[in-house]
Amino acid sequence: MTTDPLVVFTPSGKRGHFPVGTPVLTAARQLGVDLDSVCGGRGICSKCQITPSYGEFPKHGVTVSDDALSEWNAVEQRYDDKRGLKTGRRLGCQATVQGDIVIDVPPESQVHRQVVRKAATARAITMDPATRLYFVVVEEPDMHSPTGDLERLERALREQWHIDAVTADLSLMSKLQPVLRKGKWEVTVAVHKGHKDSVAKVVEIWPGLHESGLYGLAIDLGSTTIAAHLTDLETGEVKASSGLMNPQIRFGEDLMSRVSYSMMNPGGDQEMTKAVREAINDLSTSIADEAGIDANLIVETVFVCNPVMHHLLLGLDPVELGQAPFALATSESMSLPAREMDLTKMNPRAQVYILPCIAGHVGADCAAVALSEEPGKSEDLVLIVDVGTNAEILLGNTSRVLACSSPTGPAFEGAQISSGQRAAPGAIERIEIDPVTKEPRFRIIGSEKWSDEDGFDQDVATTGITGICGSGIIEAVAEMRIAGLLDESGLIGSAEQTGTTRCVPEGRTHAYLIHDASAEGGPRITVTQGDIRAIQLAKSALYAGARLLMDVMEVDKVDRVVLAGAFGAHISTKHAMVLGMIPDAPLDKVSSAGNAAGTGARIALCNITARSEIEHVVREITKVETAIEPKFQDHFVAANAIPHKTDPFPELSQVVTLPSPTFNSAGGADEKSGRRRRRRS
Ligand code: FES
Repeated sequence: MTTDPLVVFTPSGKRGHFPVGTPVLTAARQLGVDLDSVCGGRGICSKCQITPSYGEFPKHGVTVSDDALSEWNAVEQRYDDKRGLKTGRRLGCQATVQGDIVIDVPPESQVHRQVVRKAATARAITMDPATRLYFVVVEEPDMHSPTGDLERLERALREQWHIDAVTADLSLMSKLQPVLRKGKWEVTVAVHKGHKDSVAKVVEIWPGLHESGLYGLAIDLGSTTIAAHLTDLETGEVKASSGLMNPQIRFGEDLMSRVSYSMMNPGGDQEMTKAVREAINDLSTSIADEAGIDANLIVETVFVCNPVMHHLLLGLDPVELGQAPFALATSESMSLPAREMDLTKMNPRAQVYILPCIAGHVGADCAAVALSEEPGKSEDLVLIVDVGTNAEILLGNTSRVLACSSPTGPAFEGAQISSGQRAAPGAIERIEIDPVTKEPRFRIIGSEKWSDEDGFDQDVATTGITGICGSGIIEAVAEMRIAGLLDESGLIGSAEQTGTTRCVPEGRTHAYLIHDASAEGGPRITVTQGDIRAIQLAKSALYAGARLLMDVMEVDKVDRVVLAGAFGAHISTKHAMVLGMIPDAPLDKVSSAGNAAGTGARIALCNITARSEIEHVVREITKVETAIEPKFQDHFVAANAIPHKTDPFPELSQVVTLPSPTFNSAGGADEKSGRRRRRRS
C-alpha cells in the first residue's frame, strides 16, 4: 500500500495518491480534475487558484494537517502583492503536496465552469468554447537546427499543451516574428478549433501573458431587430447586450417583401446583404465600446436567424425561398472566417458559426430555440413559441418534435405600431387601465415605478417617455379589451360609447390616448385602430401556427407552454389569454423563457459540443410549412376575435370579467366588423 499522501478534490470528489512535492496542478491534471491554467504552471496567470481545507474530514476519511501543502512561496507572494489573492487561496501550480489534503476548486478556476442562467428551469451552459488562450515559451531560433518560428511555436504548443498541429493565416504570420521577439519568446496565443476541425488554427498572438480576455458575439439576427450579446469566452459572462433595428427594413418590412425586393430589383439581394453586414459591423464596434473592450478581442461570432436572413447575411440570393418548395441553398451549419462576410470590425481572423436551418422557412433561429429549450427532452408535451417578426413554434416531447415558422409581422416587436419602438429605455412596457375611470397607468423600461407613483417623473427625466415596445402593446390591447374600450371584433369605441375622452377620433376610427406630451414638444402616445389590427393579425398568425402543429400531432391540448422572444420575458399570461394568442393550456403551466433564440446562440458560442448536438437534433425535427397548409388559413381567420371566439381559455372568466360591448363607431361603422355582425345576426 502506498504511503504517498492522499489528495481529494472537491467538488468533483476525484482523489488519488501523489508523491510528496507534486504540484497541486499536476495532481489535478493526472486525475482529470477541471483546474484551469493559461500559463502552463508558470505562476503568472492565476487561473489555477485553489482553496485547501484543513482539519478533520470524516466524509473523505482524511485528517489534514496545517503543513499538508508546501509553504506560501515567492511567486504567490508576488502575485498577491500585485493583484491580490483571496484569503485562503493558493496557486495550484505553486503549492505542492506534503501530506493528505482536501482541495476545493472554486468555480472561477474550472475550465468547464457552468454559467448560471437566471430562469430556474433553464439549462446551464458549460464552458467549452472553440477558441482558447494558451501561454507558451517558444524556443529561440538556432543556426544549427534551422526551423521557422511557426514550427517552433507549433512544437511549443504540442509539448506544453498537447495541441498536435496548428495552422495560421498569412495575416497572423506577418505578426508572428515581431511578437515573438517582443515577448522574448514568451507569448500568449488564441487557438481556435471547431467541432469539425482536424487541425487547430492560431488566430491571435500577444507578447507575454495576455490578460485582457477573449470575447465572442452571440447574434440573433431577426427581420426587425438584431440583438447581440458580447460574451466572455473564459467565464461565459455576458459583458454587454445591445441591439439595433435591421436596416433591411427599408427594403421591406417582412421576409416576403424582402424576397420580392430581391426578385424585382437586380442586385437587390446584394444591397440587403451589404446593409445587414454594415449594421453588424456597427454593432460590433458599439457593443465593444459599451463593454470597454477592444473589438479586436472578439474572436468568434455565432449567428441564429431565419432562412431569408441567413441567405442575405451569407450573400446568397433568397429568391428560392419565395416559392414552393422553398429550397435553401444549404440547411447545414456553417463555419467560416468573419472576413469572408465582410465583418471587419472584430478580430481580422475571427471565426463565424451559423447554426443549421431546419428546412424551408424554419430556420437557424428555430434550431437555436430547440437548443435552448430542448423540447425533445421533455416528458410532457410542450409548446414553445418564440415571437419575433416571424414566430418560431415548436411542439414536442421525447417521442417527436414538430416545428413551424409563422409570419406574425413585426407588431409584437413594436414595429408597424403607430407609437411603437423597440424595447429600450423610455419605452412603455407595462400598462394597466382602470376599468371604471378608463385612466391608464404605466411603467417604462428604465424605471421600477408606475406612472402614478411618487418619483416617476424624476426617474424618467433622462429617458423621457418615448413609445410602446412589444410587451407594452400586448398589454395595452388586452387592457383596453378588459376596460371595455375595445369590442370582441377589435373595434375601438368612441368617447360616447366608452365614456372616456381618451378615446379620440382618428379619421373614420378611434384611438386611445395613453400619454400626451405634445404641449412640451414630446410624443403623443396612442393605440390606434390600425395598431389593434396589426396585433390581431400577429396574434392570429401565432395561434394558427401553434394550432396547426397540434393538428399534425393530433392533440387538442398541450401540457405546457413556453413563451419566448421579443416580449417572452415580460408578457403576463393574463394578457396573453385575453388576447387569445396561444391555445388553451393549464395556466400555471404557461411560462416565459426570455430570448430563447439568443440563448441558443450563446450556448453554441460557449460550448462546441452543443454545436454537434444541435446539428444532430435538427435532423430529428419535422418541419411543417404554414405557407402551403390550407388549414392554417382557417385557423387564422378563427383566431381574429379578442379573445379567441371558439377556443378561449376556460380559466379566463376566473381571472377577469370581460365586458361585451359592440361598437359601431360614431364616425361611421367599421365596414368589415359591421358586415361580420350583420352576417352573425
Ligand atoms: S497555472 Fe498560471 S498561475 Fe498557476
